[in-house]
Amino acid sequence: MKRVLSGIRATGRLHLGNYLGAVLGMLELQERNDLETLYMVADLHTLTTPYDKNELKNNVRNVVLDYLAAGLDPLKSTIFIQSQVPEHTELFYLFSTVVSLARMMHLPTYKDKLKQYPNASTVALLNYPVLMAADILIYKASLVPVGIDQEPHLEVSREIARKMNEIYKTDFPEPIRFATKGEYVPSLTGEGKMSKSVEGSYINLTDDLETIKKRLAGAPTDSGVGKKIPETGGVANLLKFVELFEDIEKRKKYELSYLSDGIKYSELKEELADAIYKKLLPIQEKRKQFEEDPREVDGIIKEGAEKARKIAGDTLKEIKEKMGLL
Ligand code: TYM
Repeated sequence: MKRVLSGIRATGRLHLGNYLGAVLGMLELQERNDLETLYMVADLHTLTTPYDKNELKNNVRNVVLDYLAAGLDPLKSTIFIQSQVPEHTELFYLFSTVVSLARMMHLPTYKDKLKQYPNASTVALLNYPVLMAADILIYKASLVPVGIDQEPHLEVSREIARKMNEIYKTDFPEPIRFATKGEYVPSLTGEGKMSKSVEGSYINLTDDLETIKKRLAGAPTDSGVGKKIPETGGVANLLKFVELFEDIEKRKKYELSYLSDGIKYSELKEELADAIYKKLLPIQEKRKQFEEDPREVDGIIKEGAEKARKIAGDTLKEIKEKMGLL
């Protein structure tokens, strides 16, 4: 059976970008009978940029809760925490022997992160994509539901798979991205993508209606009329949200208003906040149930790690043999 692997770093609560770009794809794939799905919390990747060690465990737990609340089902998917399957880091080291330093240093994702955190130029950050390749390939997963920003990392995974297959005659698949409609969720600030590290850019899955309204209120707009529908910036992003959370017809209606009598942004934002909240409410209710049953969640995490370690251990043994270590 083909396998699917995905993960999210434990940097806090999940936001709409994580949900639309990754979680919706994870949910869709867990329903398919021809696929085995494994979903993790990438706690080790969280350490590649500055983090608070006193918050980490809590953040990891919050991602698990958000996963379960969003509908990841432990009966259908293996849900686990990356650092509880140490085989990932061992395979990561073996992979690092076939990756050139120059290739890693020129990756756009590495350069972006360095710009964002100039004091965080660590070997761990440089190695980020190699660990990610190990995460995926230790399960020989061929499908990876992630947002479009992760494509450069998947390219590295494919290169590593090819190299390993060539040199050591392994049989790694070349994993491809499973894309969703929300593969790129823009920032509420009007610039770039929605991101946890940019204040004012995101809405969390756990936000209540008031918070959603407040966050949307901060999104920049214009006079509401013009000759051409903006393609970038605050208004373009708001229209994208209307399309994602209401529908394309609503977007078209606003576009017509923009070209004629003008959009009233207060109304647009009010309606949009309601539409977003309506989607989030069932997730928030489900989250409460899991919050009230911590032992069930502990059990899911423990069982997830056990299941994942079985597969990961088999792959690692095979690769160590093929590389001459065993
Ligand atoms: P992270 O935590 O940065 O992002 C988690 C997922 O959310 C998606 N995402 C978005 N999608 C659309 N629009 C956005 N604005 C947006 N912001 C975030 C990301 O594309 C990602 O799918 N490197 C991974 C974590 C990871 C991983 C893996 C993923 C580690 N190992 C193995 C898959 C397979 C990451 O960026 O997480």
